[in-house]
Amino acid sequence: MSRVAIIVICFVTIQLSWCRLDDDTLSSLRTNCVIGHCFHRGVEDCPSPENKCRCQKLQCKNAAVCCNLNKFQLKEELACANISGSGHVEALHIRNASLTTLNLEDWRKLKYLRYMTITDGQINSVTGEFAKHTSVSCLNLSSNGIINFENRSLVNLYNLSFLDLSHNNLSDVPRFKKDGNVTVDISANSHMLCPNLFNALQRTELHFSNINNSFCIFTKTFQWFNSTESVPLIQVIEIDKLRKDCLPNCTCEPKRLDIVSGKQATIKVEVNCSGQNWISLPRPLPANTFALNVSNNNITGLELFSSDPSYQNIRELYADNNEITSILPLEGSQFLSNFVVLSLRNNKLKSLPTYIFSNILDRNNFRSLRIGLNRLQCDCNAAKVLKVWLLTKQKNIQDYDEIYCDNMDMKVIDLNPSKLCQSQQDWTDYIYYIITAEVVLFAGLIAKVVYDYYVFKTSGYLPWPASKMPKLPCDWLCE
Ligand SMILES: *[C@@H]1O[C@H](CO)[C@@H](O)[C@H](O)[C@H]1NC(C)=O
Ligand SMILES: *[C@@H]1O[C@H](CO)[C@@H](O)[C@H](O)[C@H]1NC(C)=O
Ligand SMILES: *[C@@H]1O[C@H](CO)[C@@H](O)[C@H](O)[C@H]1NC(C)=O
Ligand SMILES: *[C@@H]1O[C@H](CO)[C@@H](O)[C@H](O)[C@H]1NC(C)=O
Ligand SMILES: *[C@@H]1O[C@H](CO)[C@@H](O)[C@H](O)[C@H]1NC(C)=O
Ligand SMILES: *[C@@H]1O[C@H](CO)[C@@H](O)[C@H](O)[C@H]1NC(C)=O
Ligand SMILES: *[C@@H]1O[C@H](CO)[C@@H](O)[C@H](O)[C@H]1NC(C)=O
Ligand SMILES: *[C@@H]1O[C@H](CO)[C@@H](O)[C@H](O)[C@H]1NC(C)=O
Ligand SMILES: *[C@@H]1O[C@H](CO)[C@@H](O)[C@H](O)[C@H]1NC(C)=O
Ligand SMILES: *[C@@H]1O[C@H](CO)[C@@H](O)[C@H](O)[C@H]1NC(C)=O
Ligand SMILES: *[C@@H]1O[C@H](CO)[C@@H](O)[C@H](O)[C@H]1NC(C)=O
Ligand SMILES: *[C@@H]1O[C@H](CO)[C@@H](O)[C@H](O)[C@H]1NC(C)=O
Repeated sequence: MSRVAIIVICFVTIQLSWCRLDDDTLSSLRTNCVIGHCFHRGVEDCPSPENKCRCQKLQCKNAAVCCNLNKFQLKEELACANISGSGHVEALHIRNASLTTLNLEDWRKLKYLRYMTITDGQINSVTGEFAKHTSVSCLNLSSNGIINFENRSLVNLYNLSFLDLSHNNLSDVPRFKKDGNVTVDISANSHMLCPNLFNALQRTELHFSNINNSFCIFTKTFQWFNSTESVPLIQVIEIDKLRKDCLPNCTCEPKRLDIVSGKQATIKVEVNCSGQNWISLPRPLPANTFALNVSNNNITGLELFSSDPSYQNIRELYADNNEITSILPLEGSQFLSNFVVLSLRNNKLKSLPTYIFSNILDRNNFRSLRIGLNRLQCDCNAAKVLKVWLLTKQKNIQDYDEIYCDNMDMKVIDLNPSKLCQSQQDWTDYIYYIITAEVVLFAGLIAKVVYDYYVFKTSGYLPWPASKMPKLPCDWLCE
């Protein structure tokens, strides 16, 4: 009998509300029951109120639907419709079950089950675990308000390929078998935690369906995230990819959440390339780099901060224990005007041009500059200007008292201006003395000349020493 004929007969017989088809014939119609990966029926397939059981087998092979059960009725009702035990049910949909806990140990009898769907009910938690090698390939637990799964609940589902956990209240993705390809729907779980998603992605290969409706949140306990701002799942997946495929020999870890009002919150990463013996900064950095750690390398210059576009959005630089000689390359860079942390401890800085930080450290006290264990060239200017600057910027420069001089055994903040600037001071004083002496001498000379002239005019002789001086050729001019 051809399939068309069966359908025609069935259609005709349905009109007579009677359609008897044996199991073998029905198996050819099974696609009607299981569409795609999963088995799902509407309320219209629920047993009618006059049915003695709350479960009923469907007109297609090995499929059944149960509705409006509570936890006391579950076992009996499954038996009532010959679903548990010898019933050989492969596809089961239970709608609107009020179970509080779904204990998977109760399901061990349903050993033929391949499509298990329990939706639109009230289940708080899932306990127990499936029997080993249960052949369930699609598990749909959508719309139940489930809060948590026991650790090992799903680990024995070796054939699992589709898991629908949407519209629940989960904060974590339950564990399941390690290998194989599982597609999970976690949409509409408003308490899903992003850190848990990162962990889930680390332990299993996961594919998500309904990605555009899936979000997660961060909590206080993760780094210093403190936000209930939801982040699209797609971002978590991208960051996970970045984590697995960061710059060579670097790690990329989610570090903070960038919240700009009116925009979707974005996850930012810290790129950690410390301890590589590198002599120059790595490039290009991932687009969402927030912090770069290149400590313990042999890096000499910071030029990329003003030339490389991938360095424009960095807010934190940790470059301790390197060979950096100058911070001048940062001048005018976007990093300098926006940085939160600039850590250049134990480098080869020779000077600290404080002017490049003017208007930058002044406005904001949250910025942190760490430059301890550098040995600067110390002079009167360092003693007078730099020392005072360091003392006034203590809030920003916590290690202000660990900055040393290269040319003397001293800390910059211990420099004594009156000593370092002494020679210069003496010299200027000396000039003043000479000038004063010269002025006094000059005034004396003029007074003497005036006196000589007066005496000469009144008494006609020249006082000493002018009288004793030999006549000079020009003297006749006066006489
Ligand atoms: C769900 O089942 C309960 C009984 O367990 C029933 O009172 C309620 O009306 C059902 N809800 C729906 C939407 O069918
Ligand atoms: C249950 O189903 C099995 C196999 O399909 C059948 O042999 C058995 O008679 C059924 N029992 C009842 C009570 O319907
Ligand atoms: C799982 O059940 C939900 C709720 O009934 C339904 O909306 C969804 O389509 C089902 N998922 C699959 C994959 O069949
Ligand atoms: C579940 O697993 C987590 C992480 O592996 C562990 O910390 C926790 O103790 C486990 N809980 C139980 C009940 O085994
Ligand atoms: C479950 O998977 C195993 C191999 O992993 C396969 O041999 C078996 O046929 C599968 N069972 C079902 C019911 O699909
Ligand atoms: C969902 O779970 C969170 C904690 O994970 C809880 O605070 C909240 O009340 C739950 N919401 C519902 C509707 O159960
Ligand atoms: C896993 O399944 C998804 C969706 O079914 C598919 O896009 C992906 O290519 C599969 N991956 C592997 C490795 O089989
Ligand atoms: C998800 O959203 C992206 C962009 O917002 C869009 O390109 C894509 O088609 C959407 N996917 C689905 C399945 O709706
Ligand atoms: C974190 O957020 C909570 C509430 O959203 C707030 O009470 C608390 O002060 C915040 N903590 C910090 C360190 O910002
Ligand atoms: C990464 O580290 C390995 C082993 O230490 C080294 O052989 C390789 O050259 C490094 N790659 C880069 C880009 O530094
Ligand atoms: C950066 O990586 C180094 C070595 O790989 C590690 O010791 C250090 O703790 C990491 N730093 C951060 C902030 O993750
Ligand atoms: C980096 O510096 C360390 C210690 O100063 C030195 O041992 C090492 O040879 C340097 N590496 C390179 C590549 O210059």
